[in-house]
This record gives sequence, structure tokens and C-alpha cells, in this order.
Amino acid sequence: MAGLIKLLSIVLFFALMTKGSLQCYPGKPTVKQVTTGKQVENKPEWNVTVANECPCVQTEVKLSLPRFQTVKKVDPSILVLDGSVGVLQQNINPFSGISFTYAWDTSNPITPLSSQENCS
Ligand SMILES: *[C@@H]1O[C@H](CO)[C@@H](O)[C@H](O)[C@H]1NC(C)=O
Repeated sequence: MAGLIKLLSIVLFFALMTKGSLQCYPGKPTVKQVTTGKQVENKPEWNVTVANECPCVQTEVKLSLPRFQTVKKVDPSILVLDGSVGVLQQNINPFSGISFTYAWDTSNPITPLSSQENCS
């Protein structure tokens, strides 16, 4: 019985230890949007940050942007739009992010669609 409790506490210890990194396998970029305080054609400018909070490089990152509308052209060296899919033109290094801006009355729904991980 004592042995079983000891074993369970060891398992629990390792489960807690690895919890932080486990959610990174597979890792997924996160998308956050904030207003910059600037206006473009009387519409608020939004700053979108696609962040990689995991230890592997994220490549071929694609975003889902259904009904995307903007009066400000998205920088094509960062994101190329193809219908409702946006393809990031840069890799995202571990624990960093890539940002682009657009301008519209409300924020557009933007979610991560797919990406590849390079852990080497
Ligand atoms: C957008 O947000 C990122 C991350 O907070 C920041 O580094 C960048 O300077 C911001 N860009 C603009 C145009 O506000």
C-alpha cells in the first residue's frame, strides 16, 4: 500500500512537471488582436499577433480568416491572403510572435488553421 502511494505520487509529480510543455506537443500558434489606438479611414486599426509559445519553430503557418475585411492592405511580406485562408510568410521562432495590422470597424475573426513544427 505504501509502495502504491509512493508510486502514485511519483507519477503525479512528473505529470505536473511536464504539464507546461505537454500542451506544446503538438504546438499551435495563438492569435491575439488589440487595437493600436490609430485610425485608418475612420476605422480603428487592429494589431494581430500570431504567437508561438512553444519550444519548436512554427513553419507554414496558416490562419483562417472568414469574412475578412480591411480598409488597410495587409503587409504581403507578412501575410498573403488566399480567400479565407491567410499564409504567414515568415516562420515563428520559439517564444516569439509575428504581427500585422488591418483596419475595420470591428475585429475580424482570425484563428490558427494549421502549421508545421520544426523541433530540430
Ligand atoms: C503589435 O503588437 C506586437 C506585440 O505586442 C508589437 O511588438 C508590435 O510593435 C505591435 N505593432 C503595432 C503596429 O502596434
